[in-house]
Amino acid sequence: MEFDEVIISRKSVRSFQDKEISEEILNTMMEAARLSPSFQNRQCWRFVVVRDKNIIKDLALRSGMVSKVNFFIKDAPVVIVACADPAKSGTINNQDYYLVDTSISFQQMMLAAWNHGVGSCWLAAFNERYVREILEIPQNIRIVALSPFGYPKEKKSLYEKAVKVFAQSKKRNEIKNIICYDKWSL
Ligand SMILES: Cc1cc2nc3c(=O)[nH]c(=O)nc-3n(C[C@H](O)[C@H](O)[C@H](O)COP(=O)(O)O)c2cc1C
Repeated sequence: MEFDEVIISRKSVRSFQDKEISEEILNTMMEAARLSPSFQNRQCWRFVVVRDKNIIKDLALRSGMVSKVNFFIKDAPVVIVACADPAKSGTINNQDYYLVDTSISFQQMMLAAWNHGVGSCWLAAFNERYVREILEIPQNIRIVALSPFGYPKEKKSLYEKAVKVFAQSKKRNEIKNIICYDKWSL
């Protein structure tokens, strides 16, 4: 895809085909994450790539912040958990940059995936304690986000349709409401 097309066509995907992601595409995704910019180039991000179907099922059942909101990830061939070592980043103006570093890196990974037709969905509504327990992530490491990765199903699930309506996923602010020039005028 052209870069502009990647940006414009990207959308969250919540229903997946039963189709594996090739090692080559996965490597491209990892490389996109690895090359990301970061606070003092300290690269605090760490990723757990889950392909074991039993572990994905466990995450689908128990990772949700409320009830089984993340149950849909059960069909994804890969789930990636984006983690960070905050000690390998920094804080300026009371802002913790491990979140920024890891988010940029994970987004680069997601865009690289989409460039190859692989969809994802950023998930923040997870239970950090259970995800930590399932994946045996040490206490000094923070879990920033997780996402399923896979090829989108042509026919969306009812759950996906409902979430998109609920989140008003197509809606964006107009440029004039988010951008100003020279001095603040919003
Ligand atoms: C920080 C962040 C947290 C999100 N958390 C969730 C989540 O927990 N569950 C979910 O289904 N989608 C989640 N999303 C996806 C958003 O709902 C989605 O990006 C938004 O509705 C716009 O839709 P689009 O990605 O299809 O353009 C999250 C997205 C971001 C960036």
